[in-house]
Amino acid sequence: MDKIAKALDKLLTTDPIAGAAPAGQAKGGGGKSKTVKLPAKILRDNKVVSALPPKYMDRYNMLRTQVLHRTRSQGKNVLMVTSAMPNEGATLTAINLAISMAKDFNQYCLLVDTHLREPVINQYLGFKADKGLIDYLNSDTPIFDLIVYPDIKALTILPAGKPTTESTELLGSPKMLNLVQEMKERYPDRYVIFNCPPLLSFPDALVFSTYVDGVILVVEEGETKMADLNRALHLLGDTNVVGLVLNKVKEEDQS
Ligand SMILES: Nc1ncnc2c1ncn2[C@@H]1O[C@H](COP(=O)(O)OP(=O)(O)O)[C@@H](O)[C@H]1O
Ligand SMILES: [Mg+2]
Repeated sequence: MDKIAKALDKLLTTDPIAGAAPAGQAKGGGGKSKTVKLPAKILRDNKVVSALPPKYMDRYNMLRTQVLHRTRSQGKNVLMVTSAMPNEGATLTAINLAISMAKDFNQYCLLVDTHLREPVINQYLGFKADKGLIDYLNSDTPIFDLIVYPDIKALTILPAGKPTTESTELLGSPKMLNLVQEMKERYPDRYVIFNCPPLLSFPDALVFSTYVDGVILVVEEGETKMADLNRALHLLGDTNVVGLVLNKVKEEDQS
């Protein structure tokens, strides 16, 4: 526990923005943490909100406001984003919500890729991440060496590393639970957002839901089946569902 605490302390004493290096390059003496400049074209292509026109940020800011409203006063700062089935937009929602918090609201935020089977957060953001959370869980690589600082003020990212099929065991391990508790307790004014796999595809998200303060469930308009949504909600049981996000809403519905 002490080791984790030290690593997390270091995180907050490092300036995440000063002298951002080109994507994927390590920077700074001593520590192996990375600062990366996120490539605008990749962000745009992947619909990452910081590279899109302001109207898109406005939508995520609405989500952010609702999430903060439902969590902040109760000290619920550790949240996961998931969906019933793949492709409904959980990962993009996790990324864009974190960016809305950090970039637009200056809310310090750590985005963690807990989709250990198919980690894509680093791909969506355009940087390489051969190592990540998996290496901390499997081989004790210090968290500080795995954290990435993008050129977005107040945002830090813990990528997953190379995909693994042992994700349920890793996410369900006491080491993972300790890490989440440590993240929560040491920095109650910071939000931690976990990108989780779909609830109905693997046990991972259900296991993980017992660690967090709340779940954000993404629903794809016109695609998510009511039966699947009900199954997902049933699985979550008493877990605090902070909200359902209706994603991929058609333009004409949004005026
Ligand atoms: N609001 C949205 N508008 C347009 N495309 C979206 C939206 N949300 C997600 N997508 C696209 O849908 C695909 C799946 O998104 P992703 O976030 O990876 O889903 P999941 O994590 O649920 O599998 C990606 O190609 C992504 O760009
Ligand atoms: Mg995903």
